[in-house]
Amino acid sequence: MTPSLRVEGLGKRYGERRVLSGVDLVAGRGEILAVLGANGAGKTTLLSIIAGITSHDEGDVRVLGVDVRAHPKAVRGRIGWAAQDTAVYPTHTVEENLRYFGTLGGVRRGGLRASVDAVMEALDLTRSSRTPVRDLSGGQRRRVHAACALVHRPELILLDEPTVGADPETRRDLLRLVAAIARDGATVLYTSHYLGEIEDLDARVVVLGGGRCLAEGPVSDLVSRHARSELVLRFHGPPPTTHWPGARVDEDLLRLPTADPAIDIIKAVEWVGAERDRLRSVDIAKADLESAYFNILRAGSCP
Ligand SMILES: Nc1ncnc2c1ncn2[C@@H]1O[C@H](COP(=O)(O)OP(=O)(O)OP(=O)(O)O)[C@@H](O)[C@H]1O
Ligand SMILES: [Mg+2]
Repeated sequence: MTPSLRVEGLGKRYGERRVLSGVDLVAGRGEILAVLGANGAGKTTLLSIIAGITSHDEGDVRVLGVDVRAHPKAVRGRIGWAAQDTAVYPTHTVEENLRYFGTLGGVRRGGLRASVDAVMEALDLTRSSRTPVRDLSGGQRRRVHAACALVHRPELILLDEPTVGADPETRRDLLRLVAAIARDGATVLYTSHYLGEIEDLDARVVVLGGGRCLAEGPVSDLVSRHARSELVLRFHGPPPTTHWPGARVDEDLLRLPTADPAIDIIKAVEWVGAERDRLRSVDIAKADLESAYFNILRAGSCP
């Protein structure tokens, strides 16, 4: 079966500056692929190449089997694209915007009402349906912006930091909708700097760095490959020295890597011994995507 997205050997330069180099990606139906990377890593560039908006210098990009370079317009008609900067018509109402983007995305007149109502309902926009977008708050505008990319139920959806500035409720609604859309068979490419969101979405992750793919895999794989839980001991004053394998001192904190926090926490407290009076707290920092992400960026290469 043709994957929804296939990127092979993608390279992109802006003038002398190389932004992407040899990037390979594949995403199938029903999959959420999270693209992570620091500011300037090339996430937006990658999404806009896939959307047929930015040209690329090397490699092959196929969206739903269609070559983006040869047929950018055909690709644009079949995807949903919520760019990093919100772009909706401010003087038009929420509903007018959604009807416009729905029609642009090919929703037939007969189905438009139901599509618009469904996306407004999912993103709690029904009450604001007749409000001009310029009169909405920044977070509400974010909802409308995302809704415009989703209203026509495209097969491939590109969401570039859709939850920036969104309140927790907006974020929750959007994540639920993204998960539901993927369950219905669409492919979602999602960028975010909020790694907790990516864990909640249970996405497959690609980490970009130095223009390349540094690591790739489901969240649980990246966490087990690149992160370890730590015991975090906080002291009054500098922590005592220890031969604990991999121990790191971070000001008044002593970080002790552990594969088994429940057992090692007892060992660590026993080890502190005479220094116990200076011990202020002991916490367990569980291995998570954030620690895996930092370790991947630090290592800077594919495992
Ligand atoms: N139109 C452009 N012309 C020249 N350079 C550009 C252009 N667009 C992006 N760049 C450069 O390409 C690099 C990647 O930018 P891009 O916007 O893709 O990063 P990003 O990963 O989306 O970052 P952020 O997390 O800040 O959104 C940056 O160094 C940026 O300055
Ligand atoms: Mg960006």
